[in-house]
Amino acid sequence: MVSLVGIMGNTILMLVLPSLVYLLCSLVARAWAWAWSTSKVSLPLPPGSMGYPYIGETFQLYSKNPNTFFALKQKKYGAIFKTHILGCPCVMLSSPEAAKFVLVTKAQLFKPTFPASKERMLGRQAIFFQQGDYHARLRRLVLRAFMPDSIRSTVADIEAIALRTLSSWDNRLITTFQEMKTYAFNVALLSIFGRDEIGHIEELKQCYYTLEKGYNSMPINLPGTLFHKAMKARKQLGEIVAKMLASRRESNSQATDLLASFMEDKEALTDSQIADNIIGVIFAARDTTASVLTWILKYLAENPAVLQAVREEQEEIMRSKLEESKDGDKCLTWADTRKMPMTSRVIQETMRVASILSFTFREAVEDVEFEGYLIPKGWKVLPMFRNIHHSPDNFPDPEKFDPSRFEKSPKPNTFMPFGNGTHSCPGNELAKLEMLVLLHHLTTRYRWSLSGTESGIQFGPFALPLNGLPVRFSRRTS
Ligand code: HEM
Repeated sequence: MVSLVGIMGNTILMLVLPSLVYLLCSLVARAWAWAWSTSKVSLPLPPGSMGYPYIGETFQLYSKNPNTFFALKQKKYGAIFKTHILGCPCVMLSSPEAAKFVLVTKAQLFKPTFPASKERMLGRQAIFFQQGDYHARLRRLVLRAFMPDSIRSTVADIEAIALRTLSSWDNRLITTFQEMKTYAFNVALLSIFGRDEIGHIEELKQCYYTLEKGYNSMPINLPGTLFHKAMKARKQLGEIVAKMLASRRESNSQATDLLASFMEDKEALTDSQIADNIIGVIFAARDTTASVLTWILKYLAENPAVLQAVREEQEEIMRSKLEESKDGDKCLTWADTRKMPMTSRVIQETMRVASILSFTFREAVEDVEFEGYLIPKGWKVLPMFRNIHHSPDNFPDPEKFDPSRFEKSPKPNTFMPFGNGTHSCPGNELAKLEMLVLLHHLTTRYRWSLSGTESGIQFGPFALPLNGLPVRFSRRTS
């Protein structure tokens, strides 16, 4: 019996063993192949240099115009290269495909990243720093307030702000960027709070100016430092927004502005989430729009034929409004702003040439392979908008200011002044609208000349003409 069992056992073993060995081997082989295919450790890092220990290439970056630093690197290493700046290893990407990969198709592998001090100052729950469900919810709420259907009713109010702003420049030498900041601030506040919250606006502005002064200072939170004052102002801003929320709740208002959008949400945001996002939107809306407007004034002054074409387009709109106004309203309407193709092309070309945001920052959340290179987990990844906008492959004769190039649509993913993908700019329609409205009155009623001959660029942090573009203004006489 024992031997029979033994013989049967041996026979079974002899039959089954080869299959077991085969199965085991193929499993090991498959596991190994899978591990090999998913392991990116064997991939090379992109070309480039990491500079000195700790400081990397930070000095090289800041000792020249950053745009020159990036352009030289790209010339030497190609569209993907590594470097080490501001204490972080970075991969710079300057092809349209790479920017799309990071910002759109594989956006989940790259999270937004900001220095901790900036997050604290703006508010940790602000939209820029988020991913996933909370980010998607915030985006829905912000887009609801800034989509064309929501902002079309604000044209007359924006026009009133533009007219007030322009008349304050009459016969003056102005610093264009400073004045444009005031304009963009007032438009942003209108779109966030509507016309009702006048009571708190002055107080809010004062606190925001203090916050702004500390934003780019050393993050040392000791009494007397700009950073400390900014953090105090940030706290006060939260309190002001809380007061505005309380008065909105009491008034049962039917407003359709951003504050209303944040408050209406079924899964309502908390008061501190609302405050962080209101302050965040002001931050995103003001200096960006003001920088673009400043560049527009410079390029129009330097290109008289383009200025003349814009003027003719805007005068035509003015004439048609005067004819209509015999029995109606002279105010600009949303429909008027849709009849400004030449002016719109000037805005596009300005955003391309000036590329006020040279790049944006992301961080790889895991090891990522791109075009045979390893982007290691934790490294910063910078899609280089400016390099893409200045590549002759995407825009022939790229340094030339030529709005007519936008008569044809640019190639996909080559023009990204408002970013791309999940974090692209939800305020882009408002930004374009307020620029068109200002340019209508600016070109039809005023003339301006650049004061001083020095040309150059400064970063604050957005690219700006040197000294904020001092300009002499006067009314047109004809
Ligand atoms: C010409 C003016 C403007 C330019 C060039 C601009 C550009 C941009 C860019 C490039 C981004 C994406 C950044 C990234 O991917 O890291 C962005 C995001 C954003 N912008 Fe703008 N922007 C402008 C005006 C505005 C205005 C007027 C508002 C609001 C009224 C606004 C609100 C925002 C917000 C809230 C975000 C963050 C979106 C998110 O993280 O999901 N921007 N902007």
